[in-house]
Amino acid sequence: MENTIERIYSDAMDALAAATDSDSINQLSIQYLGRKGRITHFLRNISRLPVEQRPQAGKRANEIKRLLEEKFDHALASLSEKTKPVADRIDVSLPGLAMDIGACHPITQITNRICNIFSQMGFDVVQGPEVETDYYNFEALNIPKNHPARDMQDTFYMSENVVLRTHTSPTQPRVMEKRQPPVRIIAPGKVYRCDSDLTHTPMFHQVEGLLVDRYVSFSDLKGVLTAFIHQMFDDQTTLRFRPSFFPFTEPSAEVDIRCVICRGKGCRVCSRTGWIEILGSGMVHPAVLENVEYDTSRYTGFAFGMGVERIAMLKFGIDDIRRYFDNDSRFLSQF
Ligand code: DAH
Repeated sequence: MENTIERIYSDAMDALAAATDSDSINQLSIQYLGRKGRITHFLRNISRLPVEQRPQAGKRANEIKRLLEEKFDHALASLSEKTKPVADRIDVSLPGLAMDIGACHPITQITNRICNIFSQMGFDVVQGPEVETDYYNFEALNIPKNHPARDMQDTFYMSENVVLRTHTSPTQPRVMEKRQPPVRIIAPGKVYRCDSDLTHTPMFHQVEGLLVDRYVSFSDLKGVLTAFIHQMFDDQTTLRFRPSFFPFTEPSAEVDIRCVICRGKGCRVCSRTGWIEILGSGMVHPAVLENVEYDTSRYTGFAFGMGVERIAMLKFGIDDIRRYFDNDSRFLSQF
């Protein structure tokens, strides 16, 4: 007896699984639960079972009857849900799940902009390694061991002769060793210094520039950098070349622009001076050219290096450099 009722149940479930439309489900309902259905038939014939089996068999048959009623109803309901037009199934008034669309990081955007401006002036974009030897990072750039200039840059040492590059300047000797003048390159990339506060992060980005050819003079440097700044900011931006010192350039100059925030009146961003330092530059030191075996009687050159975060902060009006690296999409999506 038990087998009979369980068999009816499993037959019904198999048939239901194979039913694909409401007609066949209704058909099943009649076949099992109808007046002449298999369950009804079973219940009607319970009196033919031995007396002691009847209560148990009746109970189980009724259970299965209820279960099947539920399953058939459920199958019909979900079928009608599926066949409803899309507009009835979806609540179009619910807020959507917006897909975040990726974009270039502001630092990448500014780096690309800088490289584009110089590319238009005929500079090649090159890249150097971030893990650099002491030789290229310092020595080849006329910064000997124990030179006080090494203290200017808080270096991460990997080993005695291997460092994380503290600037992009090592790309200068690397390129010059491989190419003969005329050389005109721009080298963007990451640099590292052991430093962290409101305006410094241990990793930041620089763009290096180098031009070596015959008859290159300081006025060429001024012309190229003025053209760059006018394109990067606007052509009304005033700039000044302020005497400075770098071991790899002589003479050296830092370039300041009139504060883009206060237009020179003096504010917090420019420390009330009206000027903002934007890059370091100078005429390539003959010692650097000699290190790569260039003929210093024929060739001269100029070089410059700038911090990308700095320029991006000015372009976008951001006052905390660490925002760039928090990876908060609410911040990043504004650019
Ligand atoms: N390397 C310098 C720094 O990180 C920046 C710099 C100054 C680069 C003068 C140059 C240059 O090429 O001529 O502070």
